[in-house]
Amino acid sequence: MNESPTAPRVIVALDVEDSGRALELVSLTSPAIGLYKIGSRLFTYEGPSIVREIAKLGASVFLDLKFHDIPATVEGSVRAATALGVAMMTVHASGGVDMMRSAAEAASEESERLGIERPLVVGVTVLTSLSMEDLSRTFGSKGAVRDVVLHLASQARESGLDGVVASVEETRLIKDAVGVDFKVVTPGIRPSGADAGDQKRVATPRAAREAGSDFLVVGRPIIGASDPLKAAEGILRELKEA
Ligand code: C5P
Repeated sequence: MNESPTAPRVIVALDVEDSGRALELVSLTSPAIGLYKIGSRLFTYEGPSIVREIAKLGASVFLDLKFHDIPATVEGSVRAATALGVAMMTVHASGGVDMMRSAAEAASEESERLGIERPLVVGVTVLTSLSMEDLSRTFGSKGAVRDVVLHLASQARESGLDGVVASVEETRLIKDAVGVDFKVVTPGIRPSGADAGDQKRVATPRAAREAGSDFLVVGRPIIGASDPLKAAEGILRELKEA
């Protein structure tokens, strides 16, 4: 059963090291895909110019730098990302309510000041690489990962963030606990029959849509394909048919 009348959007993760390959992937796939994720690796190699270059090709950027610092510093970073014209960005929900509030307010104020569309600010709850044992060792937390994710998601909402990044497994729980209009961005997507790579918990595009995901982040199944456009179109088809 579909949660939303429209299919979720697909975001291609540009997990490459140089702007040449990144821009080639955007040119190849942009007939089907309009949104691209830039992480800390590509951004550290190429800097903000890669965001401007992608915009020149008519596509939008999800800047996944996972800001996590004192509120004033994150506020400045969110202002800078907003001025750069990104459509979405991430901050760590574990940075605290004041930090998330500063981030949400900075996105609103800066976009209003510049007369541009306000970017979505989404929170990273618990990294999927962390187990319950890791959480306990790092934070002394006794709760199950799922409970920590739900707690951070509800704090993110209270702080004015637009959504969170989470696995497909957690998406339904988050929507039920925090609200259906709170955006959930899901990585770990693999079309039926594709290689999981190092992802431990994967889901098909259909399962992601059925769980209520708003944005699907897809990396290797598209950027590692011999024909990235065909791979992207296959995923879009699977989503439409779901
Ligand atoms: O290649 P693949 O489809 O596994 O890429 C998924 C993308 O989503 C990568 O950029 C990865 O860093 C990111 N991601 C993830 N799991 C998270 C958060 C982000 O796989 N929990």
